[in-house]
Amino acid sequence: ATTLGASAAQSGRYFGAAVAAAKLSDSTYVSILDREFSMVTPENEMKMDATEPSQGQFNYTNADRIVNHALGAGMRMRGHTLAWYQQQPGWMQSMEGSALRQALINHITQVAGHYSGKIYAWDVVNEAFADGGSGGRRDSNLQRTGNDWIEVAFRTARAADPVAKLCYNDYNIEDWSAAKTQGVYRMVQDFKSRGVPIDCVGFQSHFGSGGPPSSFQTTLTNFAALGVDVQLTELDIAQASSSAYAATTRACVNVPRCTGITTWGIRDTDSWRSGENPLLFDGNGNKKAAYNGVLDAL
Ligand code: XIL
Repeated sequence: ATTLGASAAQSGRYFGAAVAAAKLSDSTYVSILDREFSMVTPENEMKMDATEPSQGQFNYTNADRIVNHALGAGMRMRGHTLAWYQQQPGWMQSMEGSALRQALINHITQVAGHYSGKIYAWDVVNEAFADGGSGGRRDSNLQRTGNDWIEVAFRTARAADPVAKLCYNDYNIEDWSAAKTQGVYRMVQDFKSRGVPIDCVGFQSHFGSGGPPSSFQTTLTNFAALGVDVQLTELDIAQASSSAYAATTRACVNVPRCTGITTWGIRDTDSWRSGENPLLFDGNGNKKAAYNGVLDAL
């Protein structure tokens, strides 16, 4: 096949991109999106500060623009994200305890309910584990409401949208030997053993120029063995070498339950790491060498 989406589809997978609503008026951007990709993640528009800027006042304008474009063009949607320690609205940043717990439950109920039936997978909880060697939870206002806040989030999301796959999403969990990876693995193992509704784990895959750690495929295999799908959800690689992108793609393709790959943007100029030219298309929208590395590995 001659596009990322069609090549991924040959093995039942998707190939996605993070999309910004403001760029939907850029014809070069939209033409690449519609030609190459089969899954869309809103880059910022479904985050808590965007969807609930004032408590109890929900704003879906920009997220709906992305959803309507994606579904109208035959693409699927990944929701990102219902609960995160960053990009919280100001009113939430200063909340704690049972009031914050209730506000989180209401937020998830409203947002997942609004998009019910339109979402392939939700990043229910993003980046809840600490960096470094502890393997434990990251401190945050959400974590301080009680260690069960993550399972409450997943159960609430399931009630609001019984169809979407519910995912935990994080970065620096690609290396099997990392304490953070082990911490997330134990949480997923615990959730599966107790019937907490979790369907998938998203590996952000923000890599340096060397690409993925050598254990990445092992990590994906081991998580999949717990009974969850795995996805590469925010892929970008400093300097975007073709070999690093090909190795990353192969790690997913070699794991049956790795259901798709999403790059965090389309052109280098769209990237949150634009100084590192980490994506598959250059600023003019031309395919880079890494594009062919991915296409050949799919
Ligand atoms: C980033 C966006 O790309 C930026 O536009 C925004 O300013 C900050 O957030 N992990 C995530 C994403 O889960 O939501 C982040 O996206 C990148 C890191």
